[in-house]
Amino acid sequence: MSDTPSKRLFIKTYGCQMNVYDSERMKDVLRPLGYGPTDRAHEADLVILNTCHIREKATEKVYSELGKIKTMKEQSGGRMTIAVAGCVAQAEGEEIMRRQPAVDLVLGPQAYHKLPEMVARASRAVGDRLETDFDTLEKFDALPKARQADGPTAFLSVQEGCDKFCTFCVVPYTRGAELSRPVDDLVVEARSLIAQGVREITLLGQNVNAYHGAAPKMEGGDEWSLARLVRHLSKIGGLDRIRFITSHPRDMDEDLILAHGDTPALMPFFHLPVQSGSNAILKAMNRGHTREDYFEIMREMRGQRPDIALASDFIVGFPGESDKDFEDTMELVDTVKYAVAYSFKYSQRPGTPAADMFGQVDEAVKHERLLRLQDLLKDQQTAFNLDCIGRTIPVLVSGTGKRDGQLHGRSPYLQSVHFNGPTELMNQIVDVEISAATMSSLTGEMVRVREAMA
Ligand code: SAH
Ligand code: SF4
Ligand code: F3S
Repeated sequence: MSDTPSKRLFIKTYGCQMNVYDSERMKDVLRPLGYGPTDRAHEADLVILNTCHIREKATEKVYSELGKIKTMKEQSGGRMTIAVAGCVAQAEGEEIMRRQPAVDLVLGPQAYHKLPEMVARASRAVGDRLETDFDTLEKFDALPKARQADGPTAFLSVQEGCDKFCTFCVVPYTRGAELSRPVDDLVVEARSLIAQGVREITLLGQNVNAYHGAAPKMEGGDEWSLARLVRHLSKIGGLDRIRFITSHPRDMDEDLILAHGDTPALMPFFHLPVQSGSNAILKAMNRGHTREDYFEIMREMRGQRPDIALASDFIVGFPGESDKDFEDTMELVDTVKYAVAYSFKYSQRPGTPAADMFGQVDEAVKHERLLRLQDLLKDQQTAFNLDCIGRTIPVLVSGTGKRDGQLHGRSPYLQSVHFNGPTELMNQIVDVEISAATMSSLTGEMVRVREAMA
């Protein structure tokens, strides 16, 4: 491995945490070739846009960014190589190079291990400039086993792809079929992160609770569930916090709910997207569950951890969504009471069944519904945060705040927390008594430093 980077790499990441993880892995695979990170695109030798295709806006952003990078490439005298990775690369393939000829390479999410070879080919201007085959396992097998950690928290992809085919969604087409990584590999990767000081790991998957990884050498059967994996990782010394995102209501199992009650390292935060509160719309979305199923899961979760922070995703204006359907969504939100949620206007995606459905909803109606839903969600988020005032909460310190002497970290509920303290507290878990709260963060005073478990 070369110690002093001789070439500069700039990666811009769009979309979900899976892409954040993949960007880290691309850095890992390019490091031995002498690529070191830069945050200034114009001085980079290699620029990678790791893209997202989920909504039309996300895709359009990529093309406008490529326009800017093209100018930088011209100014670099042709030194710069431009690669487009991620879900737009997978979905649009060669079309990207047609729309923006300055692009040198296009590679889908399953091809990152081939990056060094592709970059070499591009510099010699020979061979294929497109890699969009699906072979998820080959990618994970071929990526370097060691990870470079950056701070006390890290993502770990345990599962990739999706077989659910919700009628609005591009993910099954961009990420391929659902696949779980073997338990042994995950344990090796987790240990490598922990050895570098990582104290919190977030397990990632498009349907992370569908995890069913091969565990031939492990006790307890040939295939492990997510709950089993979480329990196993929680026994590794030094790992204080475990999280997982994102789950699907259809894959919920009893053991994962119980784990929230009996595994202290498993943080009290549960993100379960519901998309809509109307059974008719859930059916048209092909979600495979009802609002009643959803209520039941959330009720059981709260039974295990009454303080748990519940989170969700919503789509408003799905084709055929009536006023009554939307009111059902508002009522569901009112009943569940969320700590945080993400909400979007339905966006027609080429090639997905919902794009051609009757009853596409007017943009103005979508807009008005989104505002109403977001008002309610903001009120709930603020209420959840205000409720923390007066409590003493463990915070994993991961950075400095905007003001002098201020530190920043996350609560078990994933809230952003600010307090004053010395920088020696970085990477520590500190008890903070919360004195003020807004919709987006908490502020407090440090009470003590914790030695062990959060
Ligand atoms: N696998 C996760 C989420 C994947 S995408 C799940 O099953 O919930 C993240 C979020 O983007 C989705 O939860 C959904 O709310 C939103 N989304 C997906 N496709 C969309 C579309 N066509 N228009 C608007 N929002 C969309
Ligand atoms: Fe998309 Fe549905 Fe799969 Fe989530 S479960 S990634 S929303 S198809
Ligand atoms: Fe976007 Fe692909 Fe993630 S479409 S949300 S980057 S899986």
